[in-house]
Amino acid sequence: MCGIVGYTGSDPAVPVLLDGLERLEYRGYDSAGVAVVSPDKDLQIQKCKGRLNVLRRRLESQPPLEGTVGIGHTRWATHGEPNDVNSHPHVSQNGRIAVVHNGIIENYAEIKEFLQHKGVHFRSDTDSEVVAQLLEYCFADAVDPLDAVYAVLERLEGAYALGILCADRPDMLIAARKDAPLLLGYGDGESFIASDATAIIAHTRDVAYMADGEVAVLTRAGIQVFDEYRRPVEKEHHLIQWDVAAAEKGGYAHFMFKEIMEQPEALRQTISPRLRDGVLCFEELSLPEEKLRAFDRIYLVACGSSYHVGMVGKYNLERFLRLPVEVCLASEFRYSAPLVDQRSLVIVISQSGETLDSMAALREARRRGGYILSIVNVVGSSIARESDDVLYTWAGPEIAVATTKAYSTQLVLLTMFGLWMADKLGRADPADYAAVTAELALLPGKLETVLAATDLYQYLGSQYFNRDCIFYIGRNLDYALGLEGSLKLKEISYIHSESYAAGELKHGTISLIEPGTLVVALATYGPLFDKAVSNIVEVKSRGAQVVAVTTESRLAQMEKIADHTIPIPDTHPALQPNLGVVPLQLFAYYVALQRGCDIDKPKNLAKSVTVE
Ligand code: G6P
Repeated sequence: MCGIVGYTGSDPAVPVLLDGLERLEYRGYDSAGVAVVSPDKDLQIQKCKGRLNVLRRRLESQPPLEGTVGIGHTRWATHGEPNDVNSHPHVSQNGRIAVVHNGIIENYAEIKEFLQHKGVHFRSDTDSEVVAQLLEYCFADAVDPLDAVYAVLERLEGAYALGILCADRPDMLIAARKDAPLLLGYGDGESFIASDATAIIAHTRDVAYMADGEVAVLTRAGIQVFDEYRRPVEKEHHLIQWDVAAAEKGGYAHFMFKEIMEQPEALRQTISPRLRDGVLCFEELSLPEEKLRAFDRIYLVACGSSYHVGMVGKYNLERFLRLPVEVCLASEFRYSAPLVDQRSLVIVISQSGETLDSMAALREARRRGGYILSIVNVVGSSIARESDDVLYTWAGPEIAVATTKAYSTQLVLLTMFGLWMADKLGRADPADYAAVTAELALLPGKLETVLAATDLYQYLGSQYFNRDCIFYIGRNLDYALGLEGSLKLKEISYIHSESYAAGELKHGTISLIEPGTLVVALATYGPLFDKAVSNIVEVKSRGAQVVAVTTESRLAQMEKIADHTIPIPDTHPALQPNLGVVPLQLFAYYVALQRGCDIDKPKNLAKSVTVE
């Protein structure tokens, strides 16, 4: 979704802004722009539809924009098509105020109509322009720019992260936040705002996360923050732990490939602090034991791939805990009057920690009395901060839109938590506990074995990249895994794909199987292997070509049936999806590569979805 970066210091602002925007590209966007204020109080803007290199070319073809204070933006269109005019920054009618905005101003039509009656002419179709125009209107009565900003914020409904420049204050940048991510960066003689830390990590690791209702005034001398009542706020500083290389490709062709390859290390980071001598420990949790014992159901709430983690989690957690577990799409949950109460544990799963639907679902669950535990990758993100307890995945920054290492780490963390909770409740089978914990320690190494077979995945990609439609089938955990495999393929290769519970095929879907249809069959879940074989035979006998993913112990059997087999090491069934997902990620990757797709930035998709 939209990305914001802002700078005030002693260096020329434009290169800092462009570098920051480039690092935010992964969030997804369709246009970009920058604005700077020159020392002689001249506000200059350049913005256009398309990728950042289009903006760079425009900037190079004109005299440089002078100024050491500026704001930049990458826009993911919601209100108004992607074009030059609708791109940010938006400028007020008199050309003295520029604004970048992330989020949606829900009452924009009403404000627009009010201002139009006052004679204001709007240039764009966006909701965001009303902020710039309303600021100009409120500035007329204001002595201090902050008076105008507070007067505007009082009238805005919806979500916003804002960066504001005033031509008359060439030393100052103002930021405000409500329900959309924005952080502050503290440098030496320079200050920053950004949608996330990747944009500014090359300049500073010292950050503070803005809270809802806060307004910040940035100058090169420092940052002052005020709450919604304009009282000064002392911000807690955080030191970003990862370095700039973690957010760069490091010689790989794509972030997605790099992040797939980082999975063994990411899993180690997730597992090792919570597994000591075969014992699971979650010291970071503050969840009281009486509360833990009182839960009578669990909700797993998420979007996209994080929802698919929940699908796997349902099978594992119900098996470990013998408690009902419901998996919910956050966008549905929030409007479904969920039956959450004080005895409900609500686990919100989110890589970014900023997904708006997941955030709204969290608030709905809290309103109904649920205890909120979140599984999040981005430290300090909104979901993490609003939860009663948070488990960080420690996967490091994930840049490719299609998630891989974040999915894997969420998956293993949820399984570990479920088993830990079962043990606390005295419901864990000791043999199962010992087997899972033993396998957890081996999991990163086994994953390395799966990653070593890239030639096989590349070969399969080259054989099947030109298909119009690919099916995924599986049972139980393999069904949940197929959902993620199918989504990966759709996201980055644009091939139509569906995933089905294999036992359900004969109730309709089998009519779609024709001679030559490609079916990716997942048969890694040992207890139902024979059933999976029957389903493969069913599609084979209707002419399907089958690529089967199975465990090494069952490979010989599968080789007799499938056209191609992908072996993965055996592990405990609860952890098998962690190994099974990797061939699916790499198959999708190589198919997309053959088709010449923009793998890291698929069309229409965004990494962090901060609108409804
Ligand atoms: C977007 C991303 C997906 C992600 C989903 C949920 O759609 O493209 O990869 O799974 O959002 O994001 P979250 O950050 O909440 O896990």
